[in-house]
Amino acid sequence: MKKKALWLLALLLLMGQAGLAQSTSTLLPVPAEMRWGQGRLNLSKPLKLQLDNSPDPAVRPAVRRLLTRLQGLAEPATGPVLQIRYGRTGLPEKFDEERYSLRVTPMGVSIDAPTSLGVLRALATLEQLPVTEKKQRYLPEVDIQDQPRFAWRGLLIDAARHFMPVAVMKRNIDGMAAVKLNVLHWHLTDDQGFRIESKVFPRLHTVGSTDGLYYTQAEVREVLAYAAARGIRVVPEFDMPSHTTSWIVAYPRLKSNDSTYAPYTQWRTTNVAIDPTRESTYAFLDSLLTEMTALFPDPYFHAGGDENDGRNWRRTPRIVAYMRANNMVKADGKTVDKHQLQTYFNRRVLALLQKRGKKMIGWDEILGPDLPKETVIQSWRGKKGLNDAVKLGHPALLSSGYYLDLNLTAASSYLTDPLPPDTPLTPAEQQLVLGGEAAMWAEFADSTMLDSRIWPRAAAVAERLWSPPAATQSVADMYRRLPAVSAELEMLGLRHRIVPELLLKQLAGGNNVAPLRTLAEVLEPVKEYKRHFQGFNYTTATPLNRLVDAAPAESEVARRFGVLVDSVVAASGSASGRSAATVRQLATLRAQLLRWQANDALLQPQLLLHPMLREYGPLSTSLAAVAKLLLERLTQLQTGQAASAAWQASAKTLLDKAQAPAGQAELAVVRAARKLAGI
Ligand code: ACM
Repeated sequence: MKKKALWLLALLLLMGQAGLAQSTSTLLPVPAEMRWGQGRLNLSKPLKLQLDNSPDPAVRPAVRRLLTRLQGLAEPATGPVLQIRYGRTGLPEKFDEERYSLRVTPMGVSIDAPTSLGVLRALATLEQLPVTEKKQRYLPEVDIQDQPRFAWRGLLIDAARHFMPVAVMKRNIDGMAAVKLNVLHWHLTDDQGFRIESKVFPRLHTVGSTDGLYYTQAEVREVLAYAAARGIRVVPEFDMPSHTTSWIVAYPRLKSNDSTYAPYTQWRTTNVAIDPTRESTYAFLDSLLTEMTALFPDPYFHAGGDENDGRNWRRTPRIVAYMRANNMVKADGKTVDKHQLQTYFNRRVLALLQKRGKKMIGWDEILGPDLPKETVIQSWRGKKGLNDAVKLGHPALLSSGYYLDLNLTAASSYLTDPLPPDTPLTPAEQQLVLGGEAAMWAEFADSTMLDSRIWPRAAAVAERLWSPPAATQSVADMYRRLPAVSAELEMLGLRHRIVPELLLKQLAGGNNVAPLRTLAEVLEPVKEYKRHFQGFNYTTATPLNRLVDAAPAESEVARRFGVLVDSVVAASGSASGRSAATVRQLATLRAQLLRWQANDALLQPQLLLHPMLREYGPLSTSLAAVAKLLLERLTQLQTGQAASAAWQASAKTLLDKAQAPAGQAELAVVRAARKLAGI
């Protein structure tokens, strides 16, 4: 009995310590299974690679990249063994190729996987494992068994609205690999530009945009090879029949009406669409798709299909006549139905793609009863599109909830699950949900600041799509690990942290940047699509170099402030209201508020000096006013004084005013301020 109790105690102690390693681990995405041990593998000596016959040429360079970053590459290596074993080269489109096991003991590291893709994923995990303690770097002892929950974990990068040079694509591919995203969805064409060289129709890339920027086919191959070496598929998107002004500018014979088109320089959707009724359109597409499908090896090909309200078709008598002649009318038997015409178009495009051995993907607008089941539906307008698609038998991807360009929180993406516990889908239907994609549309992101709009929030989507739901219940724990990933991404070459800082320096123009930073850190761009509609007329030529562009999509300072406020509010009025922890938190809050209050006087003179900063004056004023209000509130809380009705009324007026955006940015602390103020 006694012996048993001792055993139990020892076991509990062990588990407690393992639990500690787990709670301080910053692995993201969190692996399916991990068991932490007590030992550590010191990294002071370079790991010695043991990789017997490696059929996939991608593996050895990937290991070398990792070791270079981890330890500097020393040869001959003299340290513990890093043993890698796998069966064969992974076939990403086969969808069950990424499982791996990774074991770290004090003696060495071993990676075992059925395929080379599993090895690449294991290396990404290994890169996140090192711990530095007392100037020693080590790997904690651990046994990891891991595999993805969803086979399709994508990131869409829009290289059409703002062109994204090869180097930008490459470093974002590195970011994807670090968090185990495995599909780059390359949005290559849109109204504002056709960004890939066509040797068959060269006017597409030369005259379709105002800036004339595009990828040569050699550059495309370079990006494809870079992605493939990291186990990442590339699915190109040629968006049609709408979003095609650039195509029509280049080849007017594609257009649906008699209008004359110039390169499009605004951001709003045009609803311009190519003519689906002419055979010449399909002859053009056959040639173009023959060329483009040969360039991209992935079996999937995205044909777009979004945001066509059919106005180009309904207003063209010839096309209306075609729809009537082909009985494309609504239930009333009279009104022409553009959706049926688009379905006809989709079927023709699908046939062209199938002829080239490709599977077609389209946005959820193309869903309809007559759409062939093999078409993959990507849902962006809501969860319903995903569920409707699979109920009709289509494979589907979720992007609704994962739109990075809407500047929503990492938490909101994290809490968006393609298959939540209350999914209405049957197990068979669930099999059709391939996964999802974070989407970075680039109306408000140029090649300089793209990274800061993708990272680190895309990592939250990556974890949602990779890790088992049971291991990803805590939003707080995701946020605990996100800064570590952000630092890792920076080390890999992503510029999401440095570029906003450089922009602030530019705006500060030689003045001390600190006051501007203090304000920018608690600003966020206005959410969703509001930036299109707030009194500033953007064109493709508008530089993205205002304070709003340096403001984080999700303010970490404001988020932490909100966490503190939650904690203080929860404690106030309860027994823990006077605990040492609460006292400390109140002191932290007060210091923060004093900084914000004092910042305005430092910043206002600077804001007046720079014409591009003046518009942000009201936000700086509001931040100081909010801080002053909350300092009063802290005093109330600390002295046990109730807020008077008059105080509450003026606080509400002040906070409502502080909510107002300026320069397409808004103060990210107002929600927490309301909570603390008790409004
Ligand atoms: C889309 O966002 N129009 C797919």
